[in-house]
Amino acid sequence: MTRLPEIEYRILAALDAGKALAVADIVKQTGADQSLVMAGATLLAQRELVTIAEDSQEEFSLTDEGKAAAVGFPERKALNVLKATGGAANLSELPRLLGKDDVRAEIKWLTRKGWCTRDAGVLAVSAAGEAALAAKGADESFVKRLVELGQATESELADAGFDVKAALELLKGRNELLKRKKRVSRKLSLTEPGAALKAGGIEPAVEVSQLTPELLASGTWRDVVFRKYDPALATAPKYPGKEHPLQRVIQEIRQAFFEMGFEEVASPTVDTAFWVFDALFQPQDHPAREMQDTFYVAEPKRGRLPGEHGAENGDSPMEARVEHSPVQSPFSELVERVKRTHEDGGDTGSTGWRSKWDIEKARQLVLRTHTTSASIRALAANPKPPRKVFCIGKTFRREATDQTHLAEFMQIDGIIIDEQATLATLFGTLEAFYKKMGAEEVRFRPSFFPYTEPSAEVFAKMGKLGWVEMCGSGVFRPEVTQPLGCKVPVLAWGGGVERIAMLRFGLDDIRKLYMADIDWLRQARLGG
Ligand code: PHE
Repeated sequence: MTRLPEIEYRILAALDAGKALAVADIVKQTGADQSLVMAGATLLAQRELVTIAEDSQEEFSLTDEGKAAAVGFPERKALNVLKATGGAANLSELPRLLGKDDVRAEIKWLTRKGWCTRDAGVLAVSAAGEAALAAKGADESFVKRLVELGQATESELADAGFDVKAALELLKGRNELLKRKKRVSRKLSLTEPGAALKAGGIEPAVEVSQLTPELLASGTWRDVVFRKYDPALATAPKYPGKEHPLQRVIQEIRQAFFEMGFEEVASPTVDTAFWVFDALFQPQDHPAREMQDTFYVAEPKRGRLPGEHGAENGDSPMEARVEHSPVQSPFSELVERVKRTHEDGGDTGSTGWRSKWDIEKARQLVLRTHTTSASIRALAANPKPPRKVFCIGKTFRREATDQTHLAEFMQIDGIIIDEQATLATLFGTLEAFYKKMGAEEVRFRPSFFPYTEPSAEVFAKMGKLGWVEMCGSGVFRPEVTQPLGCKVPVLAWGGGVERIAMLRFGLDDIRKLYMADIDWLRQARLGG
């Protein structure tokens, strides 16, 4: 005798070896709830005592037109009328006889079914029509039966003695009468071990999931069945508090660079144009500096340049306002070298931009348009190789917001200062990094930046997003490195952090990261 939880017992009891039984029938027989039967069946199937076969069938029901037709197909009514008027009528008389203007359907089906012949404008009942008067067609009884059943599958109709095929054949071209949809039904059958278990005798027992003091004290624990734990069962999802997905991506980026031996630097968000543009050999009339591209700070009007009032690298350029004498002479050596590089190339071997460099423009405070200002500050602070530095931070551009652009976004910039550094080092590092971030493939395309030569754009491929531009990169030009006292190659790159988050989370709209979409925030998978 095997004790089984009540529902499992009832299912096994209902099944006969070698005969499949529909879950719906078991529900009827046992009187138990459908979901309870399915849960029991699943547990039995897991122990290989039963098998569950899924069968998907077409289920038929009637449309409103179909319900109307069930009362009498139009050609049936017309046949009766024709018979009553002597078995024939002129086509032109039909509307009057049938009491309706549009009699096309009647004529069509009377002739298609062969119930009438049509000759010289006269419709006459045929031999088949006479026969039809005595017996309903398969299509008519089919529709009538569907009115009674509400809906039925092909096999249910067949079980009820219907020649479904013949009916459907007759109903061809009358799709407006029938609704069809897929219905999945499940059938259970005993496996061999299931049949053996049943043959050995089974009895129902109360199932409990917890051993209570009462069960112990009363001794009933001997008669109950304990429900087994199944860690694989589906449960309602739980959404504990967690990091914001963008924050997680930032942490992953930092981790990736730490693993590759980089040091992290911070740099002012509001910085002088000197560090954002001039030190990068970006000409003072470069369009990127224009008001329509860059956010300028209205107050204070200007920031400190290196060497001014004790300003040093890494200091906030706003700590002391420079309200007096805008033109200081001599400038700090660094500022002087940058100025000369712009004007005539200085000692770099370049011809420079060949126009006057205005220190007032360099003093202007801007919301940094890229974190390359952090790289250049780090390089100026310590140009001694070998060094690998990165910075993640907020950047700003006067841009219209769309699916892939934000006016306030984050960038990751990095540099490698190394005597041995080559373009291969740069591409290898970036490929490794973006693959760590989830890219399937990484590609490089020649490009242009005022501060690098050669320059390359980096694209990453991922899933449905396809190829996405990830960052700009290159080797800093001598006009950038020499004024800072650096004589070895400096590899540099910078790109969007949100782009990486899009890659990582498969987002097609960057704005999602800044909307409090609670469903997405809950469901975004942070782990591996
Ligand atoms: N600063 C560039 C940008 O914002 C990227 C870049 C950084 C390109 C460093 C070359 C070198 O698009």
